Amino acid sequence: MHIRIFDTSDDLARAAAQRVAELLQRTPNAVLGLATGRTPLETYAELRRSYARGAADFSHATTFNLDEFVGIDRTHPGSFRRYMDMKLFDEVNLDLSRIHFLDGMASDLGAECVRYERAIEDRGGIDLQLLGIGANGHIGFNEPADELIASTHRVMLHETTRRDNAAQFGGDPTRVPHEALSMGMGTILKARAVLLLAMGSRKAHCVERAVYGPLTTRLPASFLQTHRAVELLLDRQAAALLREPLPTGSVSSGSGR
Ligand code: F6R
Repeated sequence: MHIRIFDTSDDLARAAAQRVAELLQRTPNAVLGLATGRTPLETYAELRRSYARGAADFSHATTFNLDEFVGIDRTHPGSFRRYMDMKLFDEVNLDLSRIHFLDGMASDLGAECVRYERAIEDRGGIDLQLLGIGANGHIGFNEPADELIASTHRVMLHETTRRDNAAQFGGDPTRVPHEALSMGMGTILKARAVLLLAMGSRKAHCVERAVYGPLTTRLPASFLQTHRAVELLLDRQAAALLREPLPTGSVSSGSGR
């Protein structure tokens, strides 16, 4: 794992956006895997600014988002599709036909997962997967469990995850759907490169376990240790429990150490 630690979340977001913009310059038709949640908000703001000043061109890019809630449509304020429309898709020159999303309203959710997994393969796989990490170590909506499912699938959300997502549901965790569709750990690990962002002290414990801990389905992020091109962009709070020296190949950068 390659780890970079930043003094501020703004520095971290700039570095993440720069990674995406550089990929698009090198490979205009790149396939991006995207995440929602609080963590990438500033990264998407940076990408909007990069686009506005001509430093990022999405016109040939393809996107696949990690996950979506079951039972709400794309206009619902809590849907990840709406989040992405507002934070990125409506603001940059992405071709609508190349935006891919799981449909949590599909009548056959199993078939919807199969369709999505195939669509990723048909587009040649994901070049760069952006990830956040849940305070319980989940990645996408691959929650800690006895077993992890490799491909895109239907998941029951943990209560902590529903609480963490309550803001877009009137602050009421009971209104957060119980289920979601998510790329599987195998889907995520097949991405050619992974960029995991983590900010804040709530993430420090799972970041420490993801970097040093045993591979365990109880901490899905620990499986990132098996990937050959994972970069962790952390702020100081999220990196607080990492020990010097950092794993081989890591750099302390940004305006960080
Ligand atoms: C979102 C996703 C989740 C979040 C994670 C962290 O698409 O897949 O795994 O990345 O729950 O959420 P925040 O960033 O809100 O702390």
